[in-house]
Amino acid sequence: MAGNSNLHMSKAQKEDEFYTELSMIEKELRFYKQHFENKTVFCNCDDPEWSNFWKYFELKFDELKLKKLISTHFDASESTYKLELFKDTNGDGVINSKDIVKTPLNANGDFRSPECLEILDDCDIVVTNPPFSLFREYITTLVEHNKDFIIIGNLNNITYNEMMPLIKEQKVWAGKNSGHYWFRVPEWYEEKKTDFKIDENGVKWRRMGNICWFTNMDIPEHYEDLTLYATYSPEEYPKCLNIDAIFVRLVDKIPMDYNGLMAVPITILPKLNPKQFELVGFDKELTENHGRVRTLQPNGKEKTEYARLIIRRKP
Ligand SMILES: C[S@@+](CC[C@H](N)C(=O)[O-])C[C@H]1O[C@@H](n2cnc3c(N)ncnc32)[C@H](O)[C@@H]1O
Repeated sequence: MAGNSNLHMSKAQKEDEFYTELSMIEKELRFYKQHFENKTVFCNCDDPEWSNFWKYFELKFDELKLKKLISTHFDASESTYKLELFKDTNGDGVINSKDIVKTPLNANGDFRSPECLEILDDCDIVVTNPPFSLFREYITTLVEHNKDFIIIGNLNNITYNEMMPLIKEQKVWAGKNSGHYWFRVPEWYEEKKTDFKIDENGVKWRRMGNICWFTNMDIPEHYEDLTLYATYSPEEYPKCLNIDAIFVRLVDKIPMDYNGLMAVPITILPKLNPKQFELVGFDKELTENHGRVRTLQPNGKEKTEYARLIIRRKP
């Protein structure tokens, strides 16, 4: 992480280097505690010596009744190592950082490498913030390997070809928390005019929007209804031009009395109860346009809007 040299990194790889705050992890994972008993957790995009995902599970090893915690460290240019925590190796009566077993890896810890895929196959749950530049390949790998997961990503990913079918078929859904978040970045990270700060300790931070959690693990909170209070009128909810759905500008404006298709902001996903709404994927045209519907403006001009999800209220 922060100590790593950036010499061998591509621009995309440099943009992938940002680190999750412990508080953000804690706020989401508290919903899933019942799922971890006797499970092996794998953090496969984490420098175990820096990662707060590793730290979270190390600190909560006993409370969650974990069977094993494994983390692999990626380095773009050299072979790396894995850390494992699974028993009281030093016999002092507790399982903690003193019991960590460090083993070299043959390769560089790429989540796609044979040795990391072998660990993936042996684990039960993957929890991490993966490289955003490889997000779609990453999540497809987890689904193909039939793994439970709780991972961080960007909501915009859902409008892409690989993701929409997974979302529609309910193989992936959003976790509970979403929005803008600050992430720590390495010392070498280039300063930016916006969404960037250096704190009083000289640590650099970057703010990212449309962040959410993606998971396939069921929790009761996934089925909480969204309270609807707006009412439909054809004037306020014009039809989209490229799909037979009404255009809903804001999640708060989803009408409670409209039964047809609605094109709503993608930010609905973390609030979408599958018992309340049916997620109707995209047709061919919307797929090609990544969910960007077109509307007619009051001045008679066409406008291409930000990406939308097409949903319908369930009876
Ligand atoms: C968004 S950062 C998050 C790091 C850490 N999981 C956290 O949340 O603090 C993604 C991490 O994935 C690592 N990474 C990049 N490409 C990878 C790959 N092919 N396999 C495994 N890890 C990779 C990067 O080095 C980077 O540290």
